[in-house]
Amino acid sequence: MRRLLLLAMAAGLSACATQPKQAAGPVDTVPLSLIPMPAQVLRVPGHFKLDAATTIVVAPGDTQARRVAGQLQAWIRQARGFAPAIVEGKAASGGIALATQAGIKGREAYTLDVGGDGVRIAANDETGLFYGAVTYWQLLTDPAARNGVPGLHIVDAPRFEWRGLMLDSSRHFQSVNEIEHLLDQMAMHKLNTFHWHLTDDQGWRLQIEKYPKLTQTGACRKAVGPDAALTGGADKPYCGFYTQEEAKQIVAYAAERHITVVPEIEMPGHAQAAVASYPKFGAGGKKLAVSSDWGVNTALYNVDDGTFTFLQDVLDEVMDIFPSTYIHVGGDEAAKDEWERSKAVQAKMKSLGIDDEEKMQGWFIARIGDYLEKHGRRLIGWDEILDGKVPASATVMSWRGTDGAIKAANAGHDVVLAPSPTLYLDRLQSTLPDEPPGRPSGQTMKTIYDFDPVPADIAPDNAQHVLGAEVTVFTEYLPNWYRTQHAIFPRIAALAERTWSPKADWNGFLSRIPVQMSRYRAAGIVPSDGAFAVAIAAEPAGNDTAKVTLSNQTGYGKLRYTTDGSAPTAQSTAYGGPFDVTLPTTVRANAFDGGFGLAGPRDRAIDAKSLLRRSSDELDTCSDKLVLRLESPRAVNGQRPVYKVDIMDTCWMWKGVKLDGRYGVAVTVDRLPFNYALWKDAKGVVSRKARSAAGELEVRQDTCDGPKLTTIPLAKAKDGRATLDGILPKREGTHDLCFVITGKPGPKMWVLGEVQLR
Ligand code: ACM
Repeated sequence: MRRLLLLAMAAGLSACATQPKQAAGPVDTVPLSLIPMPAQVLRVPGHFKLDAATTIVVAPGDTQARRVAGQLQAWIRQARGFAPAIVEGKAASGGIALATQAGIKGREAYTLDVGGDGVRIAANDETGLFYGAVTYWQLLTDPAARNGVPGLHIVDAPRFEWRGLMLDSSRHFQSVNEIEHLLDQMAMHKLNTFHWHLTDDQGWRLQIEKYPKLTQTGACRKAVGPDAALTGGADKPYCGFYTQEEAKQIVAYAAERHITVVPEIEMPGHAQAAVASYPKFGAGGKKLAVSSDWGVNTALYNVDDGTFTFLQDVLDEVMDIFPSTYIHVGGDEAAKDEWERSKAVQAKMKSLGIDDEEKMQGWFIARIGDYLEKHGRRLIGWDEILDGKVPASATVMSWRGTDGAIKAANAGHDVVLAPSPTLYLDRLQSTLPDEPPGRPSGQTMKTIYDFDPVPADIAPDNAQHVLGAEVTVFTEYLPNWYRTQHAIFPRIAALAERTWSPKADWNGFLSRIPVQMSRYRAAGIVPSDGAFAVAIAAEPAGNDTAKVTLSNQTGYGKLRYTTDGSAPTAQSTAYGGPFDVTLPTTVRANAFDGGFGLAGPRDRAIDAKSLLRRSSDELDTCSDKLVLRLESPRAVNGQRPVYKVDIMDTCWMWKGVKLDGRYGVAVTVDRLPFNYALWKDAKGVVSRKARSAAGELEVRQDTCDGPKLTTIPLAKAKDGRATLDGILPKREGTHDLCFVITGKPGPKMWVLGEVQLR
């Protein structure tokens, strides 16, 4: 914070009460923590300090300004504890004037002027006024403007019209309150599209009056593994859905915050919960349960006219609840096995002269697209909808990288970018040992910030087809609101800036994040601090000593540490490079910006024994086919251990182990559900010959086919977490160690949690 104030003073933005005279300057001299950064910010003379006597002024009859005034008043009350009175009349000196004003182009555009005589926000439309008020609220909540907002002239409008977030409420669902909390935050980031993933194989979550079984049956699945902790036991199903009243409440809540809710009803795949509810609409001819398996389930709708009547009836109710122009119909990952096998589907294809199942999906989607178009709506779907012929009005959401967007835009379709893995917030954001479980592939705040929503391969003439971008929040590994927040914040800020601001400025953005983090905390949001938190690495450095290396993800802030067990402060030793410690020691560290810790302090207890230990996170997986970080269904000391595992090959490597003097190994193993629908990938799951029903853990030297050093029977672990010992033969020198589990995973699998050498 001190750094911000120094910069502020250097730029003439004195934080003291006197008003500096200062000519207009460019934005980069204004160190204000605005996110997303407005299109144009100019310094002007003066500054304005809000107090309890300040009024918010609107013109008589300006109902749009009056509504926004009420919202701004509530935000000021929350931030400052007093509520400026709203008065009708002419903008008075010393007040905050909100006015709709013709001549400002764009529904979301606004101007914001701050000077010695007050604040004026103007826009052509209520949405622009709302965004102007958001910007003013950000200024008020910036400690750099604690003693008054500096004189500013801001002219702002978004780069893209679709600035979104997709929330999966099928795999795990959120309460109405939690969704409203998210909508509040989306609005404060000027995000305007809430894409709500309401149906999938693992749960149908929207009440449909004409088809009550969709929620009586389709909203419940068997609680497998960690889900049992959510329901209170493996015998209690995981159930929940939104009533139409609740969905309408969410739509209205979003609309007040200028957010459109785009519902997603998946078809023709991701349909297992619906088919479990109404088997006659399925193509497989089998009775199915709502799925408890993550991945690609193969249940598809059939293509009978009766099924289209069902889907159209569902869409009628959906359109009644959701006024959005766009209706998302999914279309992704529709494995065609059932259609290939179905006589009825094959007969229908023949009668239509369609010779392959992918084109049949195109026909399916086009038929639904026509229906939506007749009702004045537009179809949007994942990029697989391009595999067939869809109406030109269909909008394509590109998730399989950016190829779908490039192909679609160049073919004249509008597109929204949501590429996996870049904008997938279920991907983990740090490699810290305390990162929650999920999908490890390193989508840091920077990888998101570096993503430009207009891929270079879209011809310039077609760039106008890019409506914008959104982050997705799939919730297989986000079972609760705490984890969901951790995934969303602060990475949502990166998406907000890249979809709103005309220019990217990573360093500027990063320096604005600490204030944004304080805004989250004030709003009761628990963000991830993984961009700043210190990682503490240690390696042996001779008798009784270890070499310690500190780092943080963004390189932002000054790293400081202690070795006496005390909490690191802004006065603690500054990190200047790897240092030696005498064992045993606890290193505690944090990154500081001026006097403020940027993250929670992290610590690491280091002794001779811990240097001979590796967690699965610190080991390599033997292959990189489908690596996950999974939590144990069992808590240990109130916490569920997390394991890194390639579910296609349960095998880990510890590289470069000095084996001299090592005579024993202890492995901590655990038993997890293997609840994955792997479709064609299932063939690739590695199976190793086991000597017993429970299987073994083998330790091999140098490679996974190398000499077997020890075999540890897993039967002793029964069906849970256990630490098991093995004896190592005498070996010299440095070797890689491979830890492989024999047998074939499913319906449970063994995982390695930790290895301790002795
Ligand atoms: C998706 O991630 N299957 C859209």
